[in-house]
Amino acid sequence: MQIQSVACLCFSPTGTTRRIGEKIAQGMGCEQVEIMDCTKRSWRKNGQFDFSKDLIIIATPVYYGRVPEEIVPFLKTLNVQNKPAVIVVVYGNREYDDALLELHDISLARGFIPVACGAFVAEHSYSCPDRPIALARPDPEDDKTAKLFGSRIMDKLRTIRSIENMQKITVPGNFPYKEPENLLKIKEVRNTLSFTPETDLDKCTQCGLCAEVCPAEAIDSEDVSVIDKWQCIICFACIKNCPSGAKQMVDPHFNDAIDRLQIICRQRKEPEIFL
Ligand SMILES: Cc1cc2nc3c(=O)[nH]c(=O)nc-3n(C[C@H](O)[C@H](O)[C@H](O)COP(=O)(O)O)c2cc1C
Repeated sequence: MQIQSVACLCFSPTGTTRRIGEKIAQGMGCEQVEIMDCTKRSWRKNGQFDFSKDLIIIATPVYYGRVPEEIVPFLKTLNVQNKPAVIVVVYGNREYDDALLELHDISLARGFIPVACGAFVAEHSYSCPDRPIALARPDPEDDKTAKLFGSRIMDKLRTIRSIENMQKITVPGNFPYKEPENLLKIKEVRNTLSFTPETDLDKCTQCGLCAEVCPAEAIDSEDVSVIDKWQCIICFACIKNCPSGAKQMVDPHFNDAIDRLQIICRQRKEPEIFL
């Protein structure tokens, strides 16, 4: 099978998933991959998603061991026929649990044919200088693995006559998928606890970048200290992108949970690929 063109469909609030997708595409010999970024709600609503390329990389982060709830309804609207796809999840060095299987299954049900799957590791969205979790990953080693994965996918596809001859890929995971327990707990307590980043008005310059990068469009662009807690998906895009360090999570319960997470995520995990 000849693959001449590749596009990457990604949801990536803090940018690591997008970067892994780009590296895989580079490894496939494609320096200029077309990125179909579906991170923001308005982009999903108004964006033109063109699946005419020969192969699509579908990449999402892992949230609570699953494909992020935010993106699942959009993924379930896609409709293609026998389109080769590389299925990728990116996680913050805890576990990817059932997310890879879930993304594989959703893609298959929408008409994609998974030709390869991978679980990659990146800096955790909740990592910060005081509580580093997989800090600065993907690192050069991860980039190398992602590129090698891309070139191995091309090697594999060269040996296959047509997409109908593709053998099913088996990936780890359970069905029914794991309940996203922490998400359910957060939804339960959100009446009383905001679990939403707050704005230090002494540091904030009202530059508006946080509102621009918020995937859920939960931050008021006229007054960025106003955040709709019912829309916020706690992705930390606003915190990680704030140039003056004005956005912070101050809730002590949330920060205790990050402390515990840091302890269980100490051991470095490596990318896993399935071809
Ligand atoms: C709400 C939320 C839930 C997460 N759940 C997990 C998880 O279950 N396991 C894990 O290892 N990392 C988890 N992470 C970390 C992200 O998967 C990881 O940081 C990923 O690289 C973020 O991708 P992005 O940079 O494209 O936004 C979670 C992050 C967020 C914001």
